[in-house]
Amino acid sequence: MNLNKYFRLITILTLLQLSSYAQKGKSGLIKPGSVWPDNMGNHIQAHGGGIIKLGKVYYWFGEYRAKDNDPSFRYVGVYSSENLSDWKFLKKIPFSDPENLGEKWVLERPKVYYNEKSKKFVMYMHLDDAKYRFARVGIAVSDKPDGEYTFVKSFRPLGLESRDIGQFIDDDGSAYLIFESRPTKGFYIARLSDDYLNVEKETAYINAPLEGGAIIQYKGLYYAIGSALTGWRPNPNKYATATSLSGPWSEFKHIAPPETNTYQSQSTMMLKVAGSKATTVIFMADQWKPASQWDSRYLWMPLEIGGGELKLPEPKPWKVNFKTGKAEVKK
Ligand code: DGJ
Repeated sequence: MNLNKYFRLITILTLLQLSSYAQKGKSGLIKPGSVWPDNMGNHIQAHGGGIIKLGKVYYWFGEYRAKDNDPSFRYVGVYSSENLSDWKFLKKIPFSDPENLGEKWVLERPKVYYNEKSKKFVMYMHLDDAKYRFARVGIAVSDKPDGEYTFVKSFRPLGLESRDIGQFIDDDGSAYLIFESRPTKGFYIARLSDDYLNVEKETAYINAPLEGGAIIQYKGLYYAIGSALTGWRPNPNKYATATSLSGPWSEFKHIAPPETNTYQSQSTMMLKVAGSKATTVIFMADQWKPASQWDSRYLWMPLEIGGGELKLPEPKPWKVNFKTGKAEVKK
């Protein structure tokens, strides 16, 4: 083969390879536990995250724990997607120790709410010192999901210690913060004020010491999920149900066979995708890697849910059919 032909062949092969990568990237498949590349090819950094949808676009916010982060900052990653599988990196939002918490200060589980009245994006975050004794939420505000966030204040919701936080927006648009309260050995569901800048009212106190709290309302029933308090180590996550957010809440049951430790994951959020035939409820969880946090993975799976029962099936690649609302899980 002469040199010209050789180069032509190499070019064709490279183009073929690139187009097959592009197809893979647009497959719509969600692969629990795998490296999850964004549009730049970097593993998504949105750990302990939360998702909101505006129009057709989902925004995913979470802890941005890349290996090359400047250690004096903590960052919140923001990504956007229309199919929950292909994510575009928008920004890493920098925060520099807003409450003088010391070198090893902690910013975890950021959750962003969009306030229709003020047109502001209001970010809640768990703020702490190295020993987790500060136990407060911090609030920062922006005009855009991926804009400049101005730190507003920190406080203890309802005057109580707050560590892991979760976000719940009901179908009627009302917004709640879920927070773990160690001294009372349980967790709270609390309503946000109209401008979302305060935690106004206790809606429910659930007497179970749960972290990674997440709630969904499905066919008129509320389901709450949380994990036990075992640091970064996974444990069997559990769920309870109630016909009203304010309770009474049922006993807690396992969401997966307990020996799997929730398939090595910890809950962070649940999300509904409604279509013409069904509504898929997605369980979103983190598979933490404490010694290499940047490589922590995500376990997202459609739940088997209904009639007061909730089950996390064995993780497999899957996708949502946005027309029908059905989840298609690979065999
Ligand atoms: C468990 C929490 O869910 C995480 O967000 C983090 O705070 C770890 N504990 C720290 O050990």
